[in-house]
Amino acid sequence: SGVERLGDMIAEAKIIVPFTGAGISTECGIPDFRSPGGIWTRYRPIEFSEFVASQDARDESWRRRFAMEEVFAAAKPGRGHRALASLYRAGKVPALITQNIDNLHQASGFAPEHVIELHGNTTYARCIGCGKAYQLAWVKQRFDDDGAAPNCTLCDEPVKTATISFGQMMPEDEMQRATALSQACDLFIAIGSSLVVWPAAGFPMMAKNAGARLVIINREPTDQDDIADLVIRHDIGDALGPFVGN
Ligand code: OAD
Ligand code: ZN
Repeated sequence: SGVERLGDMIAEAKIIVPFTGAGISTECGIPDFRSPGGIWTRYRPIEFSEFVASQDARDESWRRRFAMEEVFAAAKPGRGHRALASLYRAGKVPALITQNIDNLHQASGFAPEHVIELHGNTTYARCIGCGKAYQLAWVKQRFDDDGAAPNCTLCDEPVKTATISFGQMMPEDEMQRATALSQACDLFIAIGSSLVVWPAAGFPMMAKNAGARLVIINREPTDQDDIADLVIRHDIGDALGPFVGN
């Protein structure tokens, strides 16, 4: 079966780089973006330029974030996260590339410096001017007190979740590290991503072109299935559950 074949490929590999999308966290209660009920079936994305330009957009963005707070706060790593953490502890995974913003790879045991977050992290906030970090509780308090999304105490620019919005620059250091890892690995496993958002979706192909074997684990077909060495079109928890170790 696909899962047995994946086991062989993992055993044969020296450097494995997992690349994850929102599908790995759906079993943890966090909705993905494009499945039925996903975030972009409910909301229109707020572009970075709108966030910068409009207090209304900032207020709406923060209202959406606060509405999700219980979901994010309650979420625990799932079988996919735990399986990847097992491979990491076994020394086969030097670091992981993720599009996810939910902090669950860190919660599963990855050291923060080994989680390359292409789209940032929603568990804290930053000033878009000077980069000062803020806790969400501070933002919530200010929002409740003032009835509006707050600006930075240092430079008065807007405070935003530490995520990357459409139209916002990709983080340079993360892009460089993800590129180097994709080109250095011999097994690249794309897990739970529709692979439609670029430049993130370029990494599976980059790894394949550099000589790695490519595995895609996703419930639905993706545009890159035809270049993969193995496609496992199953539930991620079931596919990776067998690899949860100690
Ligand atoms: P998507 O919602 O686009 O894709 C998630 C994929 O995971 C879908 O193809 C689902 O079929 C699949 N899936 C969901 N649950 C699964 C499960 N339990 N088992 C197997 N497959 C499952 O999410 P991403 O590809 O992560 O970026 O989205 C990419 C980017 O688009 C996000 O990082 C975010 C979003 O806009 C920004 O906002 C910049
Ligand atoms: Zn600032």
